[in-house]
Amino acid sequence: MKAVVLAGGEGIRLRPLTSNLPKPMIPILNRPFLERLLLRLKEHGVGEVALALSYLPEVVKSRFGDGDGLGVRLFYPQEERPLGTAGAVKNWAIHLNDAFFVFNGDIFTDLDLGQVLRFHREKQAKATIVLTQVEDPTAYGVVEMDPSGRVKRFVEKPPADQANSRWVNAGTYVLEPEVLEHIPAGKHSMFERGLFPLLVEMGVPVYGYPSRAYWMDLGTPRNYLQVHRDLLLGGASFIGGSNLVGQRSMVRPDGEMVQEGVWVGAGCRIAPDVRLKPPVALGPRCVVESGAQVLGPLVMGAECIVGAGAVVDGALLWDRVQVGPKATLTRCIVAGGVVVGAGVTVGPGCVLADGVVVEEGNHLGDGVVLWPGKHLEAGSLTRA
Ligand code: GTP
Repeated sequence: MKAVVLAGGEGIRLRPLTSNLPKPMIPILNRPFLERLLLRLKEHGVGEVALALSYLPEVVKSRFGDGDGLGVRLFYPQEERPLGTAGAVKNWAIHLNDAFFVFNGDIFTDLDLGQVLRFHREKQAKATIVLTQVEDPTAYGVVEMDPSGRVKRFVEKPPADQANSRWVNAGTYVLEPEVLEHIPAGKHSMFERGLFPLLVEMGVPVYGYPSRAYWMDLGTPRNYLQVHRDLLLGGASFIGGSNLVGQRSMVRPDGEMVQEGVWVGAGCRIAPDVRLKPPVALGPRCVVESGAQVLGPLVMGAECIVGAGAVVDGALLWDRVQVGPKATLTRCIVAGGVVVGAGVTVGPGCVLADGVVVEEGNHLGDGVVLWPGKHLEAGSLTRA
């Protein structure tokens, strides 16, 4: 089975985390999301994957190469300029000669791909769109179906009183190659607004596959943080035996579980009086100094240093972050190599991009965003 992963978007909503890193490469529990996706595809019998890149393609190519290390054959279609979701798949059409999967490269889900494929074949669909249910469909493209699941129409961002369905496009499709004939070659075009409505209008069988699997669009800082909370809390409760959210425990943190809900990578040094509140996952070679508090749900990348008396609470830290003594970080995202000085506070919703330096005595209130390389001198931002 073959698949195309759409991974060319600029990830504007996730800036500045995506200023130097394409969105599919952002770490999920310390491994690039794309790596996790590719491993999952392999488990489901997908042996060949075209990664449709456009933004910062070298970052992906240099990491995964021909896929040998992952056991999946990888191909990189050339996309001189962004061709859109459908245009990018059309660009690979000559290599697709049987039913194949398409994945948005920014959706975290534990969807059972085998079931989707069976559904597609049973219905003799030409296109199957996986659907997820949302509370408020007004911000999405809603899919309306008949009782058999055949798609009747698509409604883009319906007003609340006109939303007849809460099922929305989940960004995973099974397509028969012949539908690609209806996508214009070499032009920008999108599945949601282009190919799918056209197929329905032409009477081609397009089906919706309603899925209750876990589903999260990683495309915003809030969702990116949330997926970690869900994974860690799900994983912890599974391990605790409740099995409430067993499916979510499919992704476990790396490292050794030293107590329930506490995963520690190789070579970490944690002072004996540190308070570790599960669930927490520490990458390899982290150092946590005396009196510090590491409060979950929290993830720390490799080689982070948390200074004496610092408090890191509900945060997501990438690799090599340095947190100074008595600093306090709360429910924020801190990218690779950031240095946070002594006594600094970083509030909920803050995003510190790679290489940021915040010298001592700064107080970053809720939602402050610092772009790559920003250097805040001591005491530049004080409490209001
Ligand atoms: P924002 O800029 O934050 O809206 O994100 P995005 O454009 O990266 O993602 P969006 O949700 O709009 O797109 C869904 C998926 O399709 C993402 O995985 C994108 O990487 C991918 N994608 C969007 N446009 C293109 C494109 O022109 N070419 C390719 N190859 N992939 C695309």
